[in-house]
Amino acid sequence: MPCASQSDELVFFVNGKKVVERNVDPEGTLLTFLRKNWTLLSKSWLLRLTGTKYACGRGGCGACTVMVSKHDPVSRKIRHFSVTACLMPICSLYGAAVTTVEGVGSIKTRLHPVQERIAKSHGTQCGFCTPGMVMSMYTLLRNHPQPSEEQLMEALGGNLCRCTGYRPILESGRTFCMLSSYQQKGTGKCCLDWGENDSSPLGKKSEICMKLFAKEEFQSLDPTQELIFPPELLRMAENPEKRTLTFYGERVTWIFPGTLKDLLELKVKHPKAPLVLGNTSLGPAMKSQGHFHPVLLSPARISELSMVTKTSDGLTIGAGCSLAQVQDILAERIAELPEEKTQTYRALLKHLRSLAGQQIRKMASLGGHVISRHCCSDLNPVLAVSNATLNLISAEGTRQIPLNEHFLAGLASADLKPEEILESVHNPPSQKWEFMSAFRQAQCQQNALPHVNAGMRVLLKEGTDSIEDLSIAYGGVGAATISAHRSCQLLLGRRWNELMLDEACRLLLDEVSLPGSAPRGRVEFKRTLVISFLFKFYLEVLQELKKLVKLFSVPDSRHHSEVSDQFLSALEDFPVTIPQGVQTYHNVDPHQPLQDPVGRPIMHLSALKHATGEAMFCDDIPMVDKELFMALVTSSRAHAKIISIDVSKALELPKVVDVITAEDIPGTNGAEGDKLLAVDEVNCVGQIICAVVAETDVQAKRATEKIEITYEDLEPVIFTIKDAIKHNSFLCPEEKLEQGNVEEAFEKVDQILEGEVHVGGQEHFYMETQRVLVIPKTEDKELDIYVSTQDPAHVQKTVSSTLNIPINRITCHVKRVGGGFGGKVGKPAVFGAIAAVGAIKTGHPIRLVLDREDDMLVTGGRHPLFGKYKVGFMNNGRIKALDIECSINGGCTLDDSELVHDSLRSLFPNVIEFLILKLENAYKIRNLRFQGHACMTNLPSNTAFRGFGFPQGALVTESCITAVAAKCGLPPEKIKEKNMYKTVDKTIYKQAFNPETLIRCWNECLDKSSFYSRRMQVEEFNKKNYWKKKGIAIIPMKFSVGFAATSYHQAAALVHIYKDGSVLVTHGGNELGQGIHTKMLQVASHELKIPMSCIHISETSTATVPNTIATAASIGADVNGRAVQNACQILLKRLEPIIKKHPEGTWEDWIEAAFEQRISLSATGYFRGYKAFMDWEKGVGDPFPYYVYGAACSEVQIDCLTGAHKKIRTDIIMDACCSLNPAIDIGQIEGSFIQGMGLYTTEELKYSPEGVLYSRSPDEYKIPTITDVPEEFNVSLLPSSQTPLTIYSSKGLGESGIFLGSSVFFAIADAVATVRRERDIAEDFMVQSPATPEQVRMACADRFTEMIPRDDPETFKPWSIPIA
Ligand SMILES: Cc1cc2nc3c(=O)[nH]c(=O)nc-3n(C[C@H](O)[C@H](O)[C@H](O)COP(=O)(O)OP(=O)(O)OC[C@H]3O[C@@H](n4cnc5c(N)ncnc54)[C@H](O)[C@@H]3O)c2cc1C
Ligand code: FES
Ligand code: FES
Repeated sequence: MPCASQSDELVFFVNGKKVVERNVDPEGTLLTFLRKNWTLLSKSWLLRLTGTKYACGRGGCGACTVMVSKHDPVSRKIRHFSVTACLMPICSLYGAAVTTVEGVGSIKTRLHPVQERIAKSHGTQCGFCTPGMVMSMYTLLRNHPQPSEEQLMEALGGNLCRCTGYRPILESGRTFCMLSSYQQKGTGKCCLDWGENDSSPLGKKSEICMKLFAKEEFQSLDPTQELIFPPELLRMAENPEKRTLTFYGERVTWIFPGTLKDLLELKVKHPKAPLVLGNTSLGPAMKSQGHFHPVLLSPARISELSMVTKTSDGLTIGAGCSLAQVQDILAERIAELPEEKTQTYRALLKHLRSLAGQQIRKMASLGGHVISRHCCSDLNPVLAVSNATLNLISAEGTRQIPLNEHFLAGLASADLKPEEILESVHNPPSQKWEFMSAFRQAQCQQNALPHVNAGMRVLLKEGTDSIEDLSIAYGGVGAATISAHRSCQLLLGRRWNELMLDEACRLLLDEVSLPGSAPRGRVEFKRTLVISFLFKFYLEVLQELKKLVKLFSVPDSRHHSEVSDQFLSALEDFPVTIPQGVQTYHNVDPHQPLQDPVGRPIMHLSALKHATGEAMFCDDIPMVDKELFMALVTSSRAHAKIISIDVSKALELPKVVDVITAEDIPGTNGAEGDKLLAVDEVNCVGQIICAVVAETDVQAKRATEKIEITYEDLEPVIFTIKDAIKHNSFLCPEEKLEQGNVEEAFEKVDQILEGEVHVGGQEHFYMETQRVLVIPKTEDKELDIYVSTQDPAHVQKTVSSTLNIPINRITCHVKRVGGGFGGKVGKPAVFGAIAAVGAIKTGHPIRLVLDREDDMLVTGGRHPLFGKYKVGFMNNGRIKALDIECSINGGCTLDDSELVHDSLRSLFPNVIEFLILKLENAYKIRNLRFQGHACMTNLPSNTAFRGFGFPQGALVTESCITAVAAKCGLPPEKIKEKNMYKTVDKTIYKQAFNPETLIRCWNECLDKSSFYSRRMQVEEFNKKNYWKKKGIAIIPMKFSVGFAATSYHQAAALVHIYKDGSVLVTHGGNELGQGIHTKMLQVASHELKIPMSCIHISETSTATVPNTIATAASIGADVNGRAVQNACQILLKRLEPIIKKHPEGTWEDWIEAAFEQRISLSATGYFRGYKAFMDWEKGVGDPFPYYVYGAACSEVQIDCLTGAHKKIRTDIIMDACCSLNPAIDIGQIEGSFIQGMGLYTTEELKYSPEGVLYSRSPDEYKIPTITDVPEEFNVSLLPSSQTPLTIYSSKGLGESGIFLGSSVFFAIADAVATVRRERDIAEDFMVQSPATPEQVRMACADRFTEMIPRDDPETFKPWSIPIA
């Protein structure tokens, strides 16, 4: 085997600088190369470009997007395309120019307009997704300096953001668009006129503001300023090197032939070597499934594979063309040919538009797509039914094979020979009387692998409706694309009518049979889709036939079946639309000094740095001397005794330094029943057992696979809430609150209703996974810990007890966190402590960066909930008694105990207590009983998540209200109004409050959303359409803010004024993207009366402000703001005499004078906050400082045949009191609303019957994408009365918006209820959240759901189990 020194040089450019790599590792990706490389490229230029982020490593999130530019040998033009660097093999970059976010602009030199606008439009919160967003937009602008809004949507479709809710990101991009319309969809009026006719009680026109940024201030885009394509690369491309280049790595060799002939000879020599094109299929398989290929062949330089031939016989597209190029080629061909010839091309194009994100389409090749025969391939079913042929080539010559069912099934006789490659794919044109369609249904509209897809083609005998030829193929229902060849043959000669449809459904269900245990589950849904798609096709053909018949006046046309107008709604797919909307807030007092930033929409402090990639996150910290990496080994069993742990094979691997087990812990190993590292027993799959320390992250990860653990399974194994109840398996005693006399009230009511609600869990999916860097110091056992956490003091304390060293030796630093949402409150302490043990044992700094799969497996999320209600009410809808029992799936430990010191445990409510306290939401019901149980199961422990139980619990209450409405035959909003708190009152736990603002939010929302007229329009629509239905719902909200624990209502700050007058603020809150540092500077600026630019926040550190509380429960800015205020006021008081003496002086003069006079210029501020109190025995208390009120109205449309839904409009009114920063607060509301929408509609966790979490990547777990934002999305902040407890009477809005996402859920439920009413099916069905396409489709029962076979659950083992 030749060695690395014989490797060719890999030459490419990064940000205009030449990179020559002599020892490149072919296993490396561009992402690791950019982030980790320390190559000195020129005197002053190091590569280490950490602006490009790692978030999923599988091409699914776009955080690592960069632009690659290449010279296209066919068109002889430079092509710029966005790619995901995490899947881009480094060797594939030969001759390419890479532009990263650092190459686009910098705060140190010149900002690019894309960076400036995303920042100033408030399109960044935590900022972790921002570089990727910038690069997607930048690449778009390089190709289209004035893009259309559709192109903008397409460009951002592959980028996920977990914070912002996308609206502001889109808004920033829109400022570049051709038709930058600020037209208000639906109303026809410009959003800037919104206040003019506004009859709302919000106030006079001048008080209302709808501008969050000043577009006029943006610098214009000047394409001439961009980096040019390096002339050296251009020369290389024009005189291409024909020689084969070879790059040798330790384990893998990358061979890069320059000619087709060489490639074919190499294929003979290395028949097993795959061809790497986009690496979007090979890459993920190598990463997650352990596929290994010692030799990789790259055909990227072979221009023959990119050829396109157009003839009357069809279109031949080179296998090397990217899917994005295929999109362009098809669009061009469609424009050139008559419609009848382009049916296949249209069907392919339709699927290409929703296949993955743009980055993947730019990378993935047609050949790679066809050959990988992915079970969910979107193109193969269409290609199969359209009689596509594959042109193969080898050293022996060429041949054609059909892309048919045998090829798709991988039959050796119908497949490529090992030495053959695919040269091109030939697609014949369609003909008159031939009809073709493509269908797909995924968890969400865009960027999601399909659950089921299909290609369907029929050729009718000319002038008749008799079937001459028929082909149907499905994806997602087997190991590869399945062709329904037998059924199609049996239907030849049949007429295209209802009888044929019935027969076809029966045949298809028989041929495309899915066993109950089929992988990827959703079996009944998939069966239903198989025939629902056929029905859609049937109608489409009838419609087309109708047109043809009219055109050619066919003789027996009167015998053709017709589609009734009502049924036409089955035909259209939901279009991707560009969201519009307005955000309104209250202006500051016109007399407020201009310099005073409080109440103004100030940009996030780090926004510009987020946009340039210069904002440092934990893993962006440069490698420190002697640093080692850690990787975790987790349990593969749900409940078992550990018999042995054999680490010997792992230690034998090169570069592996040590394995850390529980025995290495010098102090306390977590708590009893909640160990940091497992001892003797494991209680869930994913429990951490030990950790490998190695010189590189790759070696550490590889070594984890060599650790052999033997287990002995234990009983019982409990996963579901029902099983936990059966086994009496609970984490804590039952919690209960009661008022009135529930039993007595039930006896006096007109009606009683009982129901069940299941709410699935939720993964935090913060874009920055858990990460920590522990640096042991040489003296006094000191440790510096850089960690991504919401609670550094907790990390500090846990590390201290684990290492058995005093807290004062440990300093935790948090610069910023790439999203937390509750998931970084407790868990970072576990990772910090394990890494610290590694650091102490080895004496080296330890870096631990969880990859997405491990993060999702290990860290838990929102608690799934099972709720039962019994409600007693009068016929007019007045609820007299409500009895709700909720059980949550807590996993294997009472995780949120980590939130507090054990001694405070009794003072601090866990999720179940919070849930019970908040369950009543906005309703006053005299007789109430709420009970809650936290179930202990053999699943990873669930933890805090934005809203902390409220989003799940309140869904039960709202579902109950909706069920009452259905029973009374009244609209749900009437029942809500009837039962809502209306006057000053007391909650179930007897805390007094005034619901005036709640009612104002509700009324304002009804008014602003034109609820009643739209309800009528919805009803009209529903009467006219059978297969599509609309639904509308409005939700009120009363959300209690705060921790409900007195000790958690305190905060401290430290403010230093330096001699030059600059001010350094430190406080106890952590910057998670919620803009706390920005708000704190606003406070300091207001108090000290100096510009924000004079004030700085460096980081949160346990060394500057000790004993901090977690940044959570929406009160971070409330309490820390008061502490900062206090410190500033102390300082100002000290300065007062000087200022009084020299009122004409400057700030700098006063500070200088103060120093001269020996006045301390440093002060700590402290806020002793709310005294929370809750007596659970008596069920009374004052647990919360205040409430946030709100209301949201959403309208959706559902497709009854597929279960898909489209969000048409959402209006949110939120009580922000006196917003400290309306841009940040609106951002929090929008972001949490979209996150809530995800919880209630698409985010679905799937567990195996053995308790293994399947959904461990963005492929399987779908958070909302940009196309999920409601078509019209309006948010208004409602000013309300003062709240003396908070800073400047602002309110904490971090969490409450989550629940408003349920308005989408209830709008979907409303549409489903209409379907069921129309079809005479019971309306009071079980409520299941999320309302996935599967749930919706199966609830819209019809002849197709009746037709499918149902399996006896006793006869098979399902692929996944429900745990709620
Ligand atoms: C995040 C993400 C989302 C996705 N979403 C979708 C989706 O919604 N719908 C969908 O259908 N697909 C989806 N995909 C799959 C994607 O379409 C395929 O991975 C892609 O088309 C494969 O092409 P490639 O060039 O990357 O193949 P590679 O990974 O480079 O190669 C794949 C295989 O093809 C072989 N091969 C490649 N070219 C040739 C050739 N010319 N001759 C012989 N063999 C060849 C290779 O040897 C290799 O075995 C998604 C993928 C990702 C990563
Ligand atoms: S797409 Fe590369 S990190 Fe997610
Ligand atoms: S700002 Fe987009 S993920 Fe945080």
